Amino acid sequence: MRQHTVAYLPGDGIGPEVCDVARRCVDAAGVRFGFEVGWDEQTVGGAAIDATGAALPPETLAACRAGDAVLLGAVGGPRWDDPTAAARPEDALLALRSELELFANLRPVTAHPALAAASPLRPEVRDGADILILRELTGGLYFGRPQGLEEHDGVESVVDTLRYTRAEIERIVELAFELAEGRRGRLTSVDKANVLASSRLWREVVNEVATRHPSVTVEHALVDSTAYLILTQPTAYDVIVTENLFGDILSDEAAAIAGSLGLMASASLGTRVTEQGRFGMYEPVHGSAPGIAGQGAANPLATVASAAMMLRLSLGEADAADALEAAVDEAVASGPRTADLGGSDGTAAVADFLLTRVADPAGVTA
Ligand SMILES: NC(=O)c1ccc[n+]([C@@H]2O[C@H](COP(=O)([O-])OP(=O)(O)OC[C@H]3O[C@@H](n4cnc5c(N)ncnc54)[C@H](O)[C@@H]3O)[C@@H](O)[C@H]2O)c1
Repeated sequence: MRQHTVAYLPGDGIGPEVCDVARRCVDAAGVRFGFEVGWDEQTVGGAAIDATGAALPPETLAACRAGDAVLLGAVGGPRWDDPTAAARPEDALLALRSELELFANLRPVTAHPALAAASPLRPEVRDGADILILRELTGGLYFGRPQGLEEHDGVESVVDTLRYTRAEIERIVELAFELAEGRRGRLTSVDKANVLASSRLWREVVNEVATRHPSVTVEHALVDSTAYLILTQPTAYDVIVTENLFGDILSDEAAAIAGSLGLMASASLGTRVTEQGRFGMYEPVHGSAPGIAGQGAANPLATVASAAMMLRLSLGEADAADALEAAVDEAVASGPRTADLGGSDGTAAVADFLLTRVADPAGVTA
């Protein structure tokens, strides 16, 4: 029996409800495909502040470092919104990214036909869209120093720093090529090379790495025109790779193609490579939805889809990943629906639907 260890960080709000469904789906897939996951449950975010005073307690970080992967629900909520508080739930997210060197954020965006009415895009524009956005997560403007207000000779100014080392660019670009090779073989590198020096180095590195991946077709695109084209011609894209700020904006914009935040999964991959895959943290794109927490109304599909990415990328369990993804697809197409997808079903009904299919799809159709 193959063994895996996952740090399990349900967090706040609906986090525990959606993570529980994902955990049960992974366990059911383990029974079917012959592996076992040891879940190391730890607190994070507001729950951790209440318990220990810190959003990311040392034990939680240690469990993440020791695991093959991390499954995270969501953090935050009105209870911890005091801007003067010493610790804030969101601190945990930035700390996890930098402490675990999670340099690559992956967000798949697909246009499920059953959600055509939920997307603002016309079906003929959106149908068939299947994009993987890779955002660099630990460099660029969000981490560059100096940052902040300055005053020189009585003149107040403010500075943010956009800094990338060649190695930081190369590692995410290399990963983007590898992922494009496993998909349709097209890579769009997004930058602002007509203005920014960092983008010009980014282009140079992309061209160098491209020589090692001759089967991938590469194009360079400017971020401003991409912001337009991603919504007007979403089917033109396969893998998109870009730096931190551009990726932050484009990946949220692209959620309009999917039509619902409740389906958007994400992976943040680190530098540690194991025999079975690459260490990463997996979480739904949505937040802790405090307004519906504890009501059994949360949509667990984004977290289950994130767990499928974990099975594929970090645990090397591709068959189990396929099984979870197939169950999610079927749920979207013809299963029970939570209110965010226009239905009136609860989390439990969606969980039952998924679990029976992950455990034994033949039994369902028989
Ligand atoms: N990665 C994270 O942990 C993360 C991300 C975003 C927001 N947050 C935090 O979450 C809290 C709430 O933020 P928000 O309201 O801006 O965003 P949100 O994603 O939590 O909620 C936005 C809307 O979508 C609904 N929603 C979200 N996920 C849902 C799901 N799985 N099922 C059904 N409905 C769902 C919510 O009820 C709400 O109406 C804040 O404290 C914020 O800081 C955390």
